[in-house]
Amino acid sequence: MQLKYILPATLLATFSAATPLRTNEVWQVSKFEVGCSPGGCEYTFNIFGAGTRNTPGFNTTCEGNDVAGGYQACKDKTISANLLPETYPHWGVQVQHEWTTTQGRFYAQGTKNVTDGTTSFKIPVTQYEGVA
Ligand SMILES: *[C@@H]1O[C@H](CO)[C@@H](O)[C@H](O)[C@H]1NC(C)=O
Ligand SMILES: *[C@@H]1O[C@H](CO)[C@@H](O)[C@H](O)[C@H]1NC(C)=O
Repeated sequence: MQLKYILPATLLATFSAATPLRTNEVWQVSKFEVGCSPGGCEYTFNIFGAGTRNTPGFNTTCEGNDVAGGYQACKDKTISANLLPETYPHWGVQVQHEWTTTQGRFYAQGTKNVTDGTTSFKIPVTQYEGVA
């Protein structure tokens, strides 16, 4: 899904302080597990984001499968996850954080390519978008 939104000028100035867009936000994944059957693969993991000056923190659990396809909401509905089909033994893990402030709605996204059996890893946030 390609999101096309315009950042409010004030936030754009903040987010584009470094070019190309670079933030230090990193989400920590733990207890990552994928179980596959002929019917598809199911995943579960915990994800923690400490938050930054511009983004709220969170700590939640995600559960879903690669059958439905696309993002599936985690327990904290502002977080959603998508397990991308990669060539075994690799998993593409995509996470999106969506939140609303008085200035608009914002999205942060990160993707990580992990090897099957990896239970803890960090997802660097590489994309921020918003709409006023
Ligand atoms: C996140 O939540 C889990 C489960 O409630 C807890 O065990 C863990 O300590 C929390 N992590 C942080 C960094 O707060
Ligand atoms: C994930 O890593 C594997 C092995 O390095 C590579 O073949 C694959 O293209 C990577 N996928 C992504 C989305 O980076």
